[in-house]
Amino acid sequence: MLIQLTYASRTSRILGPADIKDILSASQRNNTAAGITGALCLNNGIFLQQLEGDRAAVNTLYHRLLKDSRHRDTAVLDFCEIPHRRFTGWSMGLLGSVEANRQLFLKYSSSAAFDPYGMSTATLRSFFAEILENVRWLE
Ligand SMILES: Cc1cc2nc3c(=O)[nH]c(=O)nc-3n(C[C@H](O)[C@H](O)[C@H](O)COP(=O)(O)O)c2cc1C
Repeated sequence: MLIQLTYASRTSRILGPADIKDILSASQRNNTAAGITGALCLNNGIFLQQLEGDRAAVNTLYHRLLKDSRHRDTAVLDFCEIPHRRFTGWSMGLLGSVEANRQLFLKYSSSAAFDPYGMSTATLRSFFAEILENVRWLE
């Protein structure tokens, strides 16, 4: 069964480009093998990740993520069954806090700072629908 899980977490320390590269390369390698797709955003020291794939595979990954010391305060924000994937081209795309995305983050935040912990499920879903159409991805 195909599901989608969205969670937020806070970086546990300042993460540099090497940390991000390490997260992305492990994600791309493992997610391709596990049939998981999705997107990861990092802004304001907060990660927001949407994972799509088989329910058991996504649960296994989520349990592994909980043990990763690079982040903390992990909270599931949305979990639902989906009829099809959306991030078909991305084993894990990274959306950075580059200037071009700043307005997009602001559009979906009730405060000036990006705060997915406070977003409703509907807002989160609209945010991910829009980033598919309209973002600057980091390579
Ligand atoms: C915010 C965040 C998102 C991550 N996303 C993924 C992911 O989508 N897939 C994945 O396999 N690992 C992800 N990781 C890394 C895992 O926690 C773990 O380090 C990695 O899966 C270990 O892979 P390895 O055993 O192949 O080295 C993420 C880590 C963080 C901090």
